[in-house]
Amino acid sequence: MRGKFITFEGGEGTGKSTQARLLADRLEGLGIAVVLTREPGGSTGAEIIRHVLLSGGAKPLGAEVEAVLFSAARSDHLDHTIRPALDRGCWVVCDRFLDSTRVYQGALGKVDARILRGLERVTVGETMPDLTIILDLAPEIGLQRAAGRRAGAGADRFENEGLQFHERLRAAYQEVAALDPDRCVLVNADGAEDKIAEEVWTIVRGRLGAAQAELAAEEARA
Ligand code: TYD
Repeated sequence: MRGKFITFEGGEGTGKSTQARLLADRLEGLGIAVVLTREPGGSTGAEIIRHVLLSGGAKPLGAEVEAVLFSAARSDHLDHTIRPALDRGCWVVCDRFLDSTRVYQGALGKVDARILRGLERVTVGETMPDLTIILDLAPEIGLQRAAGRRAGAGADRFENEGLQFHERLRAAYQEVAALDPDRCVLVNADGAEDKIAEEVWTIVRGRLGAAQAELAAEEARA
């Protein structure tokens, strides 16, 4: 049986990586095979493109070219990591996916939605996430967290943008959640890590249909 595909989205410092890891650990604790991965990156080719993008090297080429590069990275990631894992029956938990392109390059970078849909058709195709958790947090808190985590290292391409950019980012993610409620759930990320992890767990159990029974059975056994 094909595994489930869960993605985490949100602005800088919202706790995506932590929550993705906590969910993966919890699933693994129930004996479910999990591949924990992230974008941009998650495969050899995509990691090379990640470096070009996050260093700001592609910024002068404009948001459209950045969208193409994020999509190229995604295509490699899907081919070499995500699809093979799902086909093996593993669950894939991914820190950022196509909604990041819709929000950063689309809503904020003003790349035409038709271009983005075209790129999605070619790269993602049928491999849409079964569930997307969008972590929602005031940008003042998120940027502070991201700065604390960096501890001396330089901000990356998008962390360097101003507060207004991050406020628009938050609004754009809220819109993504509102437009696709079957796939996306907005979670308030202002709180203790373990409390948010519990909320994520409740959503995962409640949302993933057929897998729900399997999860409940594993939990009863654990
Ligand atoms: P990363 O260091 O992984 O940070 P974060 O912890 O915020 O995920 O950096 C990824 C950056 O790339 C982040 O600022 C969002 C941006 N990004 C896009 O602009 N478009 C995309 O499609 C993806 C996947 C990421």
